[in-house]
Amino acid sequence: MFPAPMEVLSRLNRMRCTIRLLKGPERRQGLCSASGSAARPAVVRLSVQDATALWERQFRQSGVSEPSLSSQYIMAHVLGAKTMANLGPDVLTKTLTDIQTHQFWKLCAKRLTRMPVQYVIEEWDFRDLTLKMRPPVFIPRPETEGVALEPSPSACSMPYLRAVAVDRSAEAVRLTQENANRLGLQDRIEIHQLDVTVDAEVILRECSRVSALISNPPYLFSKDMTSLEPEIIRFEDPAALDGGKDGMLIIRQILALAPQLLTHNGLLYLEVDPRHPPMIQQCVQEERIAGLHYLQTRYDITDRPRFCVLQRRGTED
Ligand SMILES: C[S@@+](CC[C@H](N)C(=O)[O-])C[C@H]1O[C@@H](n2cnc3c(N)ncnc32)[C@H](O)[C@@H]1O
Repeated sequence: MFPAPMEVLSRLNRMRCTIRLLKGPERRQGLCSASGSAARPAVVRLSVQDATALWERQFRQSGVSEPSLSSQYIMAHVLGAKTMANLGPDVLTKTLTDIQTHQFWKLCAKRLTRMPVQYVIEEWDFRDLTLKMRPPVFIPRPETEGVALEPSPSACSMPYLRAVAVDRSAEAVRLTQENANRLGLQDRIEIHQLDVTVDAEVILRECSRVSALISNPPYLFSKDMTSLEPEIIRFEDPAALDGGKDGMLIIRQILALAPQLLTHNGLLYLEVDPRHPPMIQQCVQEERIAGLHYLQTRYDITDRPRFCVLQRRGTED
């Protein structure tokens, strides 16, 4: 149970937590995709520091992952900032208004159900972009920033860049369109609700040819789906994660389509499971996917082999 109003003061008296809210990132990052009862606002008026510490402890006791970051990101959001580091040092001792207290309690109660912070506060940063987040649309992971970094510094900073985006999920397509509109990118991106396993012809017609093909497909091995955190299992679309028996179901289809989608020397960037690079290499060599060459394997922020770069070579278009 989350702390009832009358419990709050006695707990605080016992706690006297010293939290280091002001040391930390100025941009939201690094939080794993982050799970109950309904919340009631506290009657007692608390300082920012005490309320944050109270919920950190509550999260920890309830087994919620990343209790400190969770509490801090939610508090920062309630106070209109991205991170606590962006607020001045004076803010910690400020007393929350009733509205802020109510809002903080409400959002923390959602987190207690193991809802990822990104869904709780309904937005998250991906590189230099702040994106709207909504279940069950997959939450971009920090390591994906690596693959997105490869072809370009960012879509916003390359005004000549045009993109065609494809996803089978209606929710993902809707949210992508909303984010594109919010960022003023709607004239530079075409978004299609298409399934790469069934709509190959339409994809080839609508999307080719492109100089770079970037995909973060569902690539988990089906057997690994059962060991996922509650945050993922309860809130994210399983179809965004499950890549079939060997995680290669969608990857194989992308490899098959890539030579027809890419321009001469065009590059294919794939985010994959660490077990996949040799499998993809083998697949390209053995199945002799016409004109597709395996260029290199790249490593993620934790030094695991997570990105494959391939190139279309051979005849000109
Ligand atoms: C791992 S998520 C990546 C989401 C986002 N592109 C990112 O990088 O954060 C995989 C995405 O692939 C989509 N997807 C799954 N199967 C698909 C298919 N057969 N055709 C097209 N999209 C598919 C899912 O709906 C999901 O949005």
